[in-house]
Amino acid sequence: MKNTTATFQKMKDNHEKISMLTCYDYSTAKLMENAGINGILVGDSLGNVMQGYEDTLPVTMEEMIIYGRSVARATHDTMVVIDMPFMSYQVSIEQALTNAGRLMKEGHANAVKLEGGAAVCPQIKAMTDAGIPVMAHLGMTPQSVNAFGGNKVQGKTAEAAKRMLDDAYKIQEVGAFSVVLECVPAPLAALITEKLSIPTIGIGAGSETDGQILVYQDMLGMFSDYVPKFVKKFAELGQQMTDAFTAYDQEVKAVSFPDKDHEFQKMTNPEVLEELKEL
Ligand code: KIV
Repeated sequence: MKNTTATFQKMKDNHEKISMLTCYDYSTAKLMENAGINGILVGDSLGNVMQGYEDTLPVTMEEMIIYGRSVARATHDTMVVIDMPFMSYQVSIEQALTNAGRLMKEGHANAVKLEGGAAVCPQIKAMTDAGIPVMAHLGMTPQSVNAFGGNKVQGKTAEAAKRMLDDAYKIQEVGAFSVVLECVPAPLAALITEKLSIPTIGIGAGSETDGQILVYQDMLGMFSDYVPKFVKKFAELGQQMTDAFTAYDQEVKAVSFPDKDHEFQKMTNPEVLEELKEL
């Protein structure tokens, strides 16, 4: 059964946890679908883990569409949410709506995600009015890394906590179907989760949010440039992949790969080889 916004809402209402992971490619998305993950976010974190940028700011609409539709082609039951990249929705409501529409039409998204609270409420309203489901994102919003002065936990002070709760109410009011809470003190994330009627998806926000999301290369131990405190490695695939690449390198150089089991011998007219030798 397809995971929809209604499924997410029902899961919150029934106190069932929602699982989400980021993903950017067809083969990995298929594995996540087979594992029963509820939702995939084609995050603009692809700027870091797929493209090697220091932050998510350089990521373009075209890139989100290409990665997004690769994931969408692999999924049947899993909800696919595509991130709106930096400056694709901040300039005007019209541009935001046009770009959200492109992610749905060309990226084959089931929903879009954007970062921010009260400041982006007009955009969220325009999108939801147009039938585009919107996931909001509060707390440490990576597109504002320069404004925050680094990747820092948000909502620690009384004023910041109040502002975040206020933002959460506002984005819910204008129609967001869920909200990511990133790098938020666990007690504040728990309170926002309790206060909101829409599902919260946490990353570095404790266990009491309605769901969880991690960047897949982080949770598989494939990305070591920077590993945040909230990341749990569910596998060490990075080491396994390095071992496999090393073994391949050694076998190629020792001519032990390819062996007879991994080559084609039969030719319809093998005698042609003798003729070819003469050429
Ligand atoms: O881009 C991303 O991967 C995200 C998650 C960290 C929530 O926004």
